[in-house]
Amino acid sequence: MKSFVQYTPTEVIFGKGTEEQAGKAVAKWGGSRVLIVYGGGSVVRSGLLDRVKNALNQEQISWEEFGGAKPNPLLSHAREGIKRAVAFGADLILAVGGGSTIDTAKAIAHGAANPEADLWDIWKKRVPLTKSLPVGVILTIAAAGSEMSDSAVLTNEEAGVKSGINTEFNRAKFAIMNPELTFTLPDYQIACGITDIMMHTMERYFIPGSNAMLTDEIAEGLLRTVITNGRIAMKNKEDYNAMAEIMWCSSISHNNLTGLGRDRDFSVHKFGHALSAKYDVAHGASLAAVWNAWAAFALEGEGAEERFARYARKVWQVEEQQDRAAALEGIRRTVEYFREIGIPVTLAELGVDPSEEDLQELAMKTTQNDTVKLCPARAIGAAEAKEIFRAAK
Ligand code: NZQ
Ligand code: ZN
Repeated sequence: MKSFVQYTPTEVIFGKGTEEQAGKAVAKWGGSRVLIVYGGGSVVRSGLLDRVKNALNQEQISWEEFGGAKPNPLLSHAREGIKRAVAFGADLILAVGGGSTIDTAKAIAHGAANPEADLWDIWKKRVPLTKSLPVGVILTIAAAGSEMSDSAVLTNEEAGVKSGINTEFNRAKFAIMNPELTFTLPDYQIACGITDIMMHTMERYFIPGSNAMLTDEIAEGLLRTVITNGRIAMKNKEDYNAMAEIMWCSSISHNNLTGLGRDRDFSVHKFGHALSAKYDVAHGASLAAVWNAWAAFALEGEGAEERFARYARKVWQVEEQQDRAAALEGIRRTVEYFREIGIPVTLAELGVDPSEEDLQELAMKTTQNDTVKLCPARAIGAAEAKEIFRAAK
């Protein structure tokens, strides 16, 4: 087992009606002037935003609202939010929504606490981040895990780059999670969320030579839980227990518990971010569209077969004795599951058809202009990334 630091300080307030506690949670974490951040309007239509405002009013907390965070949230929009937060004198940023809203809120918190610095300089760590404002979350979709993660992702539309920042300042102070708030989600978003949760766990799992038994068992249990409840949720999205299991998995899959004691990969996410930056496709779908091609490539790495075989046996109950056959069956069942829940498993199904030139551009974006090697299972530079994109077509 490798050495690690585990620090996940987010207070989780989980269950039915918990959004009513928003005012008390904000007050507890020192907020008296709150910028409420939300997305394209689902929280307005569902009435959630009004309930949150009422909860803040009851605690005499001043607030202003800032909507409009897009899926694949934009740097320019976050910059707008920073101006609003500074002008209002916000002392806490409250995200009401999914990963895009939460990441926008985190960006606003960093920018508002450091108004002299440019947000993209902070993002690229050209300016060290030493302080931020507290962020609270009211989660409306189980997917990105941003509610407990140390990461935030923005698209710089001028540079055509989607990129994340990992810092302890990205940990939300509290996360209110009421699974009932997810009942209004479109099927496709539920499926994208299930896929993203699985990926956050798998990106920490396919590390050859990995030796962390408890972490493996947690990861495998989490994957089985998402897969089983994902099937139930796709048939009935008002199944509270299924949505509750998926929601809790979303947080655990990305708060690092499923990766303790070993390296992490996140190469599939790099492929997905390149696709989302170029084609503005949903995050979960962008991952599944390349996963099959990535898995076929990674499987040929040293020690990878054994790991994929374990995954197949523990997660998909594959009974093949021989590692290679088991590994291939595990990959096949994963792809079949994505199909079953309606998620694209090729670039064509994702609705994109990159030219040769586009493949090169995507490969360069994925590997930061061929300056990094992704994937501990089998090194991926720009040339390999291009082949994986080509195979994913
Ligand atoms: O914008 P609104 O109108 O709210 O609609 C959203 C959006 O269209 C809708 N939605 C959310 N909750 C809803 C709802 N519609 C009806 N009822 C509800 N209860 O769903 C759509 C997607 O929302 P979004 O916030 O984009 O979803 P998600 O949570 O999947 O977030 C995706 C973003 O998070 C990033 C992704 O790259 C992507 O930009 N990620 C962030 C991570 C992190 N910070 O740790 C890690 C992830 O790997 C990921 O990269
Ligand atoms: Zn993700």
